[in-house]
Amino acid sequence: MAMLRGLAWVLLPAVCGALAPQALQSALAEVAKKKSAEYNCSISIAVRTSEGSAQAAAGITNFEAGQKALATDLYPWGSVTKMFTAASIMKLVAAGAFRLDDEIAPLVDTVLKKMAAKDPKQNFTSVEELWGANAAKTTLRELLGMTTGKQWESFMNAAQAFSELGGRMT
Ligand SMILES: *[C@@H]1O[C@H](CO)[C@@H](O)[C@H](O)[C@H]1NC(C)=O
Ligand SMILES: *[C@@H]1O[C@H](CO)[C@@H](O)[C@H](O)[C@H]1NC(C)=O
Repeated sequence: MAMLRGLAWVLLPAVCGALAPQALQSALAEVAKKKSAEYNCSISIAVRTSEGSAQAAAGITNFEAGQKALATDLYPWGSVTKMFTAASIMKLVAAGAFRLDDEIAPLVDTVLKKMAAKDPKQNFTSVEELWGANAAKTTLRELLGMTTGKQWESFMNAAQAFSELGGRMT
């Protein structure tokens, strides 16, 4: 799949729930058109309410081919996944799976060990091996609040490693 240059927006149903489906569709198309022009990018918006769903797209996904964005185009989510990760963590905290003040290492190391067992090329099995003892002591609360106050070895290396991990987990 080609990487699309653009934004995928998810609007809260609460914002749009009051509009009838046809009005919602028009409103979405208007927003997509306006924001696509403002940021010079393609935009895809979808909303689902109790009344039904509506979607709209605007902008160009391939300038060379002059290809217009379609609501069915797929976009990589990139760092937008953070908010879903955070929400999932909070659900697991509410369910008692772990606490916000737990350190990340025991939780993440379990996953890293399983991954290493499946992939002989993965030569690490712990957060400490990857980023040092300091990183291993980070708590979920600090991580989610971006308040670790710890010096990560190298942010770009960490980001790269995380994205490689993400790629391997899918
Ligand atoms: C929008 O972006 C494309 C691709 O980078 C570029 O070719 C084009 O000139 C830009 N248009 C405007 C109005 O900035
Ligand atoms: C693990 O492999 C990477 C390259 O993929 C290398 O940079 C790193 O030094 C290796 N670490 C160990 C502990 O062997």
